[in-house]
Amino acid sequence: MSNITPHSFSISKKDRTQRNKHSSFLIWFTGLSGSGKSTIADALEKELHKKKIHTYILDGDNIRKGINSNLGFSPQDRTENIRRIAEISNLFIDAGIVVLSAFVSPYKKDRNNIKKIVGNTNFVEVFINTSLKECERRDVKGLYKKARKGEISDFTGISAPYEAPDAPDIEITEEISVDEAVKKIYKYISNKLKAS
Ligand code: ADX
Repeated sequence: MSNITPHSFSISKKDRTQRNKHSSFLIWFTGLSGSGKSTIADALEKELHKKKIHTYILDGDNIRKGINSNLGFSPQDRTENIRRIAEISNLFIDAGIVVLSAFVSPYKKDRNNIKKIVGNTNFVEVFINTSLKECERRDVKGLYKKARKGEISDFTGISAPYEAPDAPDIEITEEISVDEAVKKIYKYISNKLKAS
């Protein structure tokens, strides 16, 4: 990038943190389609909102239909999908907002890249570890059925890989209820939320 000189703006992230009375970072939900990422993110956001935390959810609905509407599900497109979401998340973090991003994000290298973009300390990885069997049983959007019939290609878990995180900050297994998942995540982030 040449000939781009950043302007030094007067209001910093620190000013926003002090105004909001909480810090800002990214909570990244990864897991198979239908694992419950958006459901848990939604329930967590409600809880944070009650506690007057400024939040925003990024998910397929507001990203793949808008800024990333030119991307599909090839490995290259997924990499670009996740890179843009990480950059958007980074802007929200700078704006003082706790971001909840819910994406399949099946490749380890893409998730590592998010960490690089937002910084290690701003990244909380939540692995929604619901088995393929259970996701397929739920089949909320009817996509697994289509993928099994070969009507959707590159479908995560069926015809494309899911690389599970080795050491997620938080792991939510399928026996855990949504309420318990929210409590578990909140417990992990409560210290981190303190404005410094
Ligand atoms: S990611 O792999 O690039 O992170 P993302 O989370 O944005 O994926 O989108 C996944 C959602 O798109 C799924 O929950 C599902 O509803 C839908 N989808 C459509 N085609 C596919 C596919 N081939 N693989 C996975 N999900 C798909």
